[in-house]
Amino acid sequence: MKNRSDRYNNDPSEDKYEKIIDLAMRRGFFWPSYEIYGGVAGLYDLGPLGVLLKRRIIDLWRKIFIERHQDYVVEIETPIITPKKVLEASGHVEHFTDPIVECTSCGRKYRADHLIKDVLNINVEGLSIEELTRIIREKDVRCPVCGGVLGDVKRFSLLFTTTIGPYSDSIGFLRPEAAQGMFTAFKRVYEAMRNRFPIGIAQIGRVGRNEISPRQSMIRLREFTIMEIEFFFDPKNPECPLLDDVRDVKINILRGEEKLRGEEKPSSYKIIEAVEEKIISQPWQAYWMAISQEFVQRLGVSPDNIFFEEKLPHERAHYAQQVFDQMVKVSRWGWIEVSGHAYRTNYDLSRHQLFSGADLSIFRRYEKPLIIKKRKILLDKNAVLRIYGEEAPRIFRELSGKNLDELATKIVEENGYIIIDGVKYNKEIFKIEDVEEKIYGERIIPHVVEPSFGAERLLYITLDNAYVEEEDRIVLKLPKEIAPIQVAVLPLLEREDMIKVSKKLKNMLIEEGFYVLYDESGSIGRRYARADEIGVPYAVTIDHQTLLDETVTVRFRDTKEQIRIKISELAKFLEKEFKK
Ligand code: GLY
Repeated sequence: MKNRSDRYNNDPSEDKYEKIIDLAMRRGFFWPSYEIYGGVAGLYDLGPLGVLLKRRIIDLWRKIFIERHQDYVVEIETPIITPKKVLEASGHVEHFTDPIVECTSCGRKYRADHLIKDVLNINVEGLSIEELTRIIREKDVRCPVCGGVLGDVKRFSLLFTTTIGPYSDSIGFLRPEAAQGMFTAFKRVYEAMRNRFPIGIAQIGRVGRNEISPRQSMIRLREFTIMEIEFFFDPKNPECPLLDDVRDVKINILRGEEKLRGEEKPSSYKIIEAVEEKIISQPWQAYWMAISQEFVQRLGVSPDNIFFEEKLPHERAHYAQQVFDQMVKVSRWGWIEVSGHAYRTNYDLSRHQLFSGADLSIFRRYEKPLIIKKRKILLDKNAVLRIYGEEAPRIFRELSGKNLDELATKIVEENGYIIIDGVKYNKEIFKIEDVEEKIYGERIIPHVVEPSFGAERLLYITLDNAYVEEEDRIVLKLPKEIAPIQVAVLPLLEREDMIKVSKKLKNMLIEEGFYVLYDESGSIGRRYARADEIGVPYAVTIDHQTLLDETVTVRFRDTKEQIRIKISELAKFLEKEFKK
């Protein structure tokens, strides 16, 4: 068994990832689900600290994306179970697949693009199944376990399937993204918000993706919590009035065309440059990318460890016209995607309009009505009878099927006659008027940009960024605003008088709204270490002097510095600290 000092020397056989997993399981952040039955890949439980940390991450997301933008963004909740028709309309039934390949000897199944990447170290994301099969044949890629020959690459649907109610033909799926609930409810939300536009609809909820062989712990899960916004705007008026707030924010971007040239290094742009140079095609997309970077930085990630990668057409989801993935560097896995930023055009609403028959367009009122000059043509029935006499019924018959208004702009006049579809009519039977019509607006199907995050992945990256080993301790240097437990209350000694004051203090802090760890067992050093290891930013110690003058020490997690403070001022002090 390893002793403590082994733990802190950079033993290459135990990388940071393994240490985080060890800490997560030991202290109750997360562990494999159904562990007593051997676990299931891609399914993880969150423990008491994991639930708290995830909640704080979600709260921060909600604060930044929804509460700060409450003039624009509203939150809704829609079901996880989705009827087949909805995901047929969205294109997921057809496109939400990964390439799979089976060993013809042992029957093991692999995600074909990942296997090729592992074996040949080439990125083949988004290639067709025929191309993947060809690479496997040409390079003789074999089953990594038994060395057997691999079959042809096929498509595997990532949708978890179920039935809705007792009818086997009533197929439902677990939603693979929360977005479709927001598209199908768009019209209802728009009207409930009294035609607010542009409008963002946000949703936080569980999704399921039946990944072929998830191997990256909390990074690739078969079930997770997604946080996404569908932001609906007018494609003819795509300007973002908030862009000015972030115009000078710098983001690193690796563009698609640079990737095609084999470049790997992103370049830094101000948001305003990225918009003006059309690197990011939609201003609202650029705005949410700046906000998303701020959010990830507030989780503790340094800007040097963030960049946005533009996806190439074959790497993009079927619904997207431009996509950027926000990439963050973590210890074992290198660069991983923490958010996707897709310009989905009006693809989803148009498809749902087509499949459901519902009108999902909205009326866009022009700032000033358009004045249109129109020529109107009317048939003068008395003139027909007067001029054509017995032939009048023929004229009525011929002209009854014609849309005279449509013809009005095209009619040809010739020597007192009007020619319609090659037939001459006496001009006198028509009244031709030039009129002006006011057009107040038009119907449009909104376009959408979408920022989308996975909460558990963020939880993992916060731990990866926060985990630090110092000579005598492990410390999670989590940003204060997401620390699961905010204050530790520690009586210096297990003495009744100190315990009594400590418990009173603990209750007072809970009343004030803090999440408190109360710990009275073991040496004070060990208790500080236990609190540091789970990222508690402040430890309050009740000692001999407390009993004399009602003061306590407050220890700062990151610096280990201590100050003495009056109990009566403690709550205010901590409140201020958390606001800093
Ligand atoms: N809605 C974003 C995604 O499916 O990844």
